[in-house]
Amino acid sequence: MARLLGKRVIITGGSTGIGAAIARRFLDEGAAVCVWCRNPDNARLIKSELPALSDVVGVDVAEPAQVDAAFPRSIAALGGLDIMICNAGISIRRDFLDIDRADFDRVMRVNVHGVFYPSQLAARHMMQADGGTILITASTAGVVGYRHYADYNASKGAVLAMMRTMAIELAPKVRVNAINPGYTSTPMQDAEYSPEMLRRVNGIIPMRRHGRPEEIAALYVYLASDEAAYATGGIFTFDGAESVGSAATTL
Ligand SMILES: NC(=O)c1ccc[n+]([C@@H]2O[C@H](COP(=O)([O-])OP(=O)(O)OC[C@H]3O[C@@H](n4cnc5c(N)ncnc54)[C@H](O)[C@@H]3O)[C@@H](O)[C@H]2O)c1
Repeated sequence: MARLLGKRVIITGGSTGIGAAIARRFLDEGAAVCVWCRNPDNARLIKSELPALSDVVGVDVAEPAQVDAAFPRSIAALGGLDIMICNAGISIRRDFLDIDRADFDRVMRVNVHGVFYPSQLAARHMMQADGGTILITASTAGVVGYRHYADYNASKGAVLAMMRTMAIELAPKVRVNAINPGYTSTPMQDAEYSPEMLRRVNGIIPMRRHGRPEEIAALYVYLASDEAAYATGGIFTFDGAESVGSAATTL
């Protein structure tokens, strides 16, 4: 269990859900991990759960000045950077006709600008140094149409498009890939789906359940590791076959 020995990693949105599972697993694999986290309560919790973290930095990824301050602090804490994981994201369940303009802007700022700011800083750093890899948590929502999430779907489609160009321009020194989770059991899901809705969703996913954060963390380990040296420009779907067929309709 040391597939990432010596690797230095920043994870945005790393205090809960998928990001926290990645942090846990990357520590187990020997990486030095710095978590970026917006919510101070979550920061305290992840620090006490994972004392081996190199740093937990309070940062709103939608605010460029905060990202600009957090980045050098994390580079100093880690002694460099090999892997940048842009994972922070938000969703707001609303029909297209009812989307509030301020909410639309917020979703775009967190999910698109909040990937662009840190990944550009990371790419510049890696191009000057020994290279590295950037992983973006997108979503199946960036590929197929889901009801109630037009703004979120648009934001995830945008980062997939950005990832493609990044992969082309940054090769061969920096690898860039996106991961598209389907329904995954995390605080994001629990906030917007009642237990009954979750049960119905599970009924239409061919694997009959949500994915687990620790299952998807294993995919991040592979993509971040040297074993994935040829993987760049990829979109890795991890959704229990939800989006390949008719299950791509939400309640
Ligand atoms: N859970 C799912 O079903 C699912 C499916 C597909 C994609 N995703 C994506 O996975 C990623 C992680 O989500 P999750 O499911 O683990 O939910 P989550 O809510 O547990 O994680 C999101 C994290 O991002 C952080 N965050 C939100 N806005 C931020 C900001 N402005 N600055 C810094 N941090 C911020 C939150 O505090 C939280 O820790 C998100 O990008 C989400 O869109 C989730």
